[in-house]
Amino acid sequence: MFILAAAGSAVGLGNIWRFPFIAGDNGGGAFILVYLVCIFLIGIPIMMAEVLMGREVRSSPINTLRRLVTVSKASPAWILIGWMGVVAGFFILSFYAVIAGWAMDYVLVTAQGTFEGATSATASATFNSFLESPLQLMLWQTLFMIITVWIVARGVSGGLELAIRVFMPMLFILLVVMLGYSITTGGFGEATEFMFRFEWDRMGVEGVLAAMGQAFFTLSLGMGAIMAYGAYVPSQASVPGTVTIIAMLDTVVAIAAGLVIFSIVFANGLEPGQGPGLMFITLPLAFGQMPMGTLFGTVFFVLVSFAAITSAISLIEPALAFLVEEYNAVRSRVAISLGVITWVLGLGTVFSFNVWADVHLIGERTFFDLLDYLTNNIMLPLGGLLMGLFVGWVLPRKLVSEQLQMSSAALQAWFVAVRFIAPIGVATVFVYTILRGILG
Ligand code: PFF
Repeated sequence: MFILAAAGSAVGLGNIWRFPFIAGDNGGGAFILVYLVCIFLIGIPIMMAEVLMGREVRSSPINTLRRLVTVSKASPAWILIGWMGVVAGFFILSFYAVIAGWAMDYVLVTAQGTFEGATSATASATFNSFLESPLQLMLWQTLFMIITVWIVARGVSGGLELAIRVFMPMLFILLVVMLGYSITTGGFGEATEFMFRFEWDRMGVEGVLAAMGQAFFTLSLGMGAIMAYGAYVPSQASVPGTVTIIAMLDTVVAIAAGLVIFSIVFANGLEPGQGPGLMFITLPLAFGQMPMGTLFGTVFFVLVSFAAITSAISLIEPALAFLVEEYNAVRSRVAISLGVITWVLGLGTVFSFNVWADVHLIGERTFFDLLDYLTNNIMLPLGGLLMGLFVGWVLPRKLVSEQLQMSSAALQAWFVAVRFIAPIGVATVFVYTILRGILG
């Protein structure tokens, strides 16, 4: 169940929507290399840290940290990691629901055969006219929030398990089918070259930060989501084993989505750096041209919507579990209240694509860009940095080694990763980006 739930959390819009567009915006190759290095050197060790903390205490992230602070006789300031995670979860879910809404809208639009024989001009026009309507975006955002709240209100349960067991493999298979199609488009060679040729001058320092942020986002790390799920890992399960499986699965999905999308980009002479609309403009072209494309396309957007729901649930879970534990509150009531707050915040993202498109906040960013930047490039990596320090330097070594059950060499390597590589890596990228920002 943990593997399913954690994989459900990890695989989502981050893999299929965000990874390709951020990679495209940052020039491909070098970005992807940094991203992969971050997944393996920082992501996997930090994910193990989150799981072990969750399994040790078996409660919500904030209470888990409270307990661990007591056990280690450490400063209560460490509990702030849990609070920051709750805030990051709200922020992320607020825009996640809007983007998931796009995918849901595209289920209907694709099913109507809109994209049969589509050209890049018509696909862009369809997407842009959709974005221009705040009401439409709100409608789908609202529906997505209602479904998410309804599921979490009932507890992370059997229905969900079934959904992940059935839909995740289907999404996998469909991606393989599309990968097959993308090879026939004539853009596949250029796509692999774009993704795997490491040209550093195509990427700046900001790209390094973006790659690191994407590694945290895609694995649901740095905010307690995986810690909350860690509470459900049986004592006899292997933490390193399960974590590695999840990270690999997640990475394979992202790379496959990237290959499909960039093949279509190059086959149609499009730009890889198109921002958040990339998936919604490129994939319809493929569905418009491939045999049975309307069917495949409809199913695809259904599956992406499901993948988004299983991730969204894990974004609320840390806050929800905490409030339920702390105030003995009724789960469904808390879920609805959290849902309403998130929904209101999400309106900022809805408007970022139309009525507030010209409102620029810090550094020429729309409200959506700012939230996305703040959470993915700052809050999640910062959470990861602090978790690494806490688990590596503060928690009793005995507690950690009993949880991980690894050979002493592997344990040693893991300690190096959480004590040094993750904190120093994140801190270096932060300092470097800040200096670059100040010095221009
Ligand atoms: N990992 C999810 C995705 O790739 O879509 C997004 C996400 C879920 C991020 C849960 C953070 C989180 F806590």
